[in-house]
Amino acid sequence: MARRGWLLAWVVVVVMVAVNAPGGDAHNITAVLEGSPEYSLYNDYMTRTKVADEINTRETVTCLVLPNAAMATLASKGPLAAVKNALRLLTLLDYFDPTKLHNLPGGATFTTTLLQTTGSVTGNQGFVNITNARGGKVTFSSAVAGSKPDATYTKSIKEIPYNLSVLEVSAPIVFPGLFDAASTARSNLTALLENAGCKTFAFLISSSGVLQMFQSATGKGLTVFAPNDEAFKARGVPDLSKLSSAALVTLLQYHALPSYTPKASLKMQASGRIATMASNAAGKYDLGVKVQGDDVSLVTGVDTSRVASTVFDDAPVCLLTVDSVLLPIELFAPAPAPAPGPSGKAPSPTSPAPTATPPAPPTKKAPAPSPMPLSPPAPPMDAPAPASSPAEGPGNENPADESMAAGTTILGTLVVILSALCALGSIL
Ligand SMILES: *[C@@H]1O[C@H](CO)[C@@H](O)[C@H](O)[C@H]1NC(C)=O
Ligand SMILES: *[C@@H]1O[C@H](CO)[C@@H](O)[C@H](O)[C@H]1NC(C)=O
Ligand SMILES: *[C@@H]1O[C@H](CO)[C@@H](O)[C@H](O)[C@H]1NC(C)=O
Ligand SMILES: *[C@@H]1O[C@H](CO)[C@@H](O)[C@H](O)[C@H]1NC(C)=O
Repeated sequence: MARRGWLLAWVVVVVMVAVNAPGGDAHNITAVLEGSPEYSLYNDYMTRTKVADEINTRETVTCLVLPNAAMATLASKGPLAAVKNALRLLTLLDYFDPTKLHNLPGGATFTTTLLQTTGSVTGNQGFVNITNARGGKVTFSSAVAGSKPDATYTKSIKEIPYNLSVLEVSAPIVFPGLFDAASTARSNLTALLENAGCKTFAFLISSSGVLQMFQSATGKGLTVFAPNDEAFKARGVPDLSKLSSAALVTLLQYHALPSYTPKASLKMQASGRIATMASNAAGKYDLGVKVQGDDVSLVTGVDTSRVASTVFDDAPVCLLTVDSVLLPIELFAPAPAPAPGPSGKAPSPTSPAPTATPPAPPTKKAPAPSPMPLSPPAPPMDAPAPASSPAEGPGNENPADESMAAGTTILGTLVVILSALCALGSIL
């Protein structure tokens, strides 16, 4: 009987963890540092690279902040894409306040950083080695073998237990190759698209002249949503050769934003509509955003398309692939169905609000090209969420990104387990 009681208690704890797991908007690093001019450069780069948006969607984070002089040195070392990765490496996905830093078990620990979640790193590059040396000096180094202790902890700036800790460090953490990231200046948009499996889209933007429009927007900010080649062959995609050249240009412009909006920043826009490069008036040719866990989808009013992968990211230019061609309602409003029969088209939505949008028409979901291998050696994190694994797809390695939906599924599963245990208990 005692064992049964213990089991029940355990299940209750797991259920509570599952219920509390959903992703949140717990903090705003920009606001925390706003009143501190000595960190204004770091704060500015966090906004420009949109790493701030990546942080603000995490529940448990420690930010290692650089004072202005150290940040200026970092910024001079490479393109913004590299600075972005360096800032991610300074963002630890665990809570470390001064007390914890000075009481590390065994005097050292490995911890995961935001860089690891991008999937663009190999080996131990996404991890940081924290060491508490004799005399209480805490240092941070890359977990890549042979790394020197680059950064020293200097002071605590802000502690919001156990969600956000903001600490000042003396210097950036680096590993060989960190500053080799691709830069817009050295990149060829068409070649990048072709290599990412978006040959049709690359051909269309080159032949229609839209590529020039994209290229002239790269200075101020550009986000391109490139459908992969499968997407153009999917059922329900209109015959593009029947479009007038003006309509084709509009359709292609609809696949870009005149702003730098990487995936984490798209997540922040879930409540509104975003203007595209095709938007010629308020509320025209805009997109809605739907977020489910780590998945972000774009909602046009005619169809929905998942954002599959990031091909290129060098602020203020960002290239993402999507699973379906984005069909603006202004060009492809579904004809009112003559009879409520099973036609291939979705019913006509009348409201542009994302919530009122019907599910996508049967455009085929192409398998994601998935250039996001997870680096294997995850060090033991004290993640208290046994609820994270079953409902998640690949590409989501952080339990804090748990979606409400996944939490609910897990909750349902646990209720079933609980009932089974009760039944078992009554048999015993
Ligand atoms: C900290 O995170 C928890 C969820 O883990 C959330 O409920 C709480 O509101 C957060 N606290 C603060 C101060 O942001
Ligand atoms: C975070 O704070 C900054 C500065 O106060 C503000 O401009 C920004 O809108 C805030 N972000 C969010 C997501 O609330
Ligand atoms: C962690 O960093 C410390 C201090 O630089 C170093 O002595 C130690 O070897 C590092 N540990 C590993 C496993 O790299
Ligand atoms: C960019 O790449 C495309 C396709 O690979 C090639 O045809 C074009 O010449 C390249 N442009 C530049 C400026 O290198």
